[in-house]
Amino acid sequence: MNNNIEQSSFKDGDITILAIESSCDDTSASICIGGVIKSNIIAGQKVHAKYGGVVPELASRAHIQNIIPTVHEALEKASTSLHDLTAIAFTQAPGLIGSLLVGVQFAKSTALALNKPLIAVHHMQAHVLANLIDIDNRPSFPFLCLTVSGGHTQIVIARSPLELEVLGETIDDAAGEAFDKCAKLLGLPYPGGPLVDKYAKEGNPLAFKFAEPQMPDLQFSFSGLKTSVLYFLQKQDTGFIENNLPDLCASIQHTIINILLKKLNKAVLHTGIKQVCIAGGVSANSGLRTGLQEMGKKYGWKTFIPAFQYCTDNAAMIAITAHYKYLAGQFAGLQASPSARAEW
Ligand code: KG4
Ligand code: ZN
Repeated sequence: MNNNIEQSSFKDGDITILAIESSCDDTSASICIGGVIKSNIIAGQKVHAKYGGVVPELASRAHIQNIIPTVHEALEKASTSLHDLTAIAFTQAPGLIGSLLVGVQFAKSTALALNKPLIAVHHMQAHVLANLIDIDNRPSFPFLCLTVSGGHTQIVIARSPLELEVLGETIDDAAGEAFDKCAKLLGLPYPGGPLVDKYAKEGNPLAFKFAEPQMPDLQFSFSGLKTSVLYFLQKQDTGFIENNLPDLCASIQHTIINILLKKLNKAVLHTGIKQVCIAGGVSANSGLRTGLQEMGKKYGWKTFIPAFQYCTDNAAMIAITAHYKYLAGQFAGLQASPSARAEW
């Protein structure tokens, strides 16, 4: 495979990347040309809803079914073909190993067949760089990013596209997990985060008070919140949840957002950096989006939030990250393998 690509023969505008994302339960393919996203196709998997969470074996099978039509659609929407590609990128880690394997094998076989270079991308780095997709409204470096997803909660400093450092993270559950677990206690189906967001819009965020953990530095903890919601609900009469769903959702959401934004403020004070982004599935939450903008106004931050389709898992964020890795000459070999957990 042509990994020692002659970069001098390419202009930035020619770099055409096909990116694949398959780390969890969304199969996604994207085409990025010269650092501009031309398509971002996402095939979700409804099969998990009745199990109350992602079933890894079912996710891998659905990825196998979805990957070829998803890639075709991405190529078609971008009016390009496999032969126009300069490189093929894939999510290497972290994620469900069986899900990652489908994307990695697809990318490797396509790269081998077309004799194109491969680029391996870290999913969490890609969530942060989703903030670089909007070419008209990007943060400048260095910036801070609160990355909140189903598996991670991190405050990251980005000194350049490829120089990221985690300043603090959760010691137990992630913010998305807290949303989903609390939603489950309220009898809502998986993934509960978007439903909590929906019901919260009609509720009073101060109706019920749940304890916020006191964590040192920039660390987070969310497992206590789930327990405190559980104990609170156990003390109530039958019918309480049904009669108070919007207030319960609004109060839980308010507590999670408060925990997140207080730490983000601490990170700004600690680093002096006022370019502040959010990323990851939970950054689709309307309360968090508004909360960040309000903090920005209050403290003079310049805030950035990816468009909705680039918050939850998507291949466009893999493609934009791969674009920068391509420029830096960071290629992977055919021996590249996925990893469920990954250090930065
Ligand atoms: O980034 P993502 O799509 O996948 C991971 O990498 O984990 O994040 C998924 C998480 C789930 O926990 C989901 O409930 C949460 O993001 N989420 C939301 C919203 N949309 C997605 N949480 C709260 N409000 C939302 N609107
Ligand atoms: Zn994700």
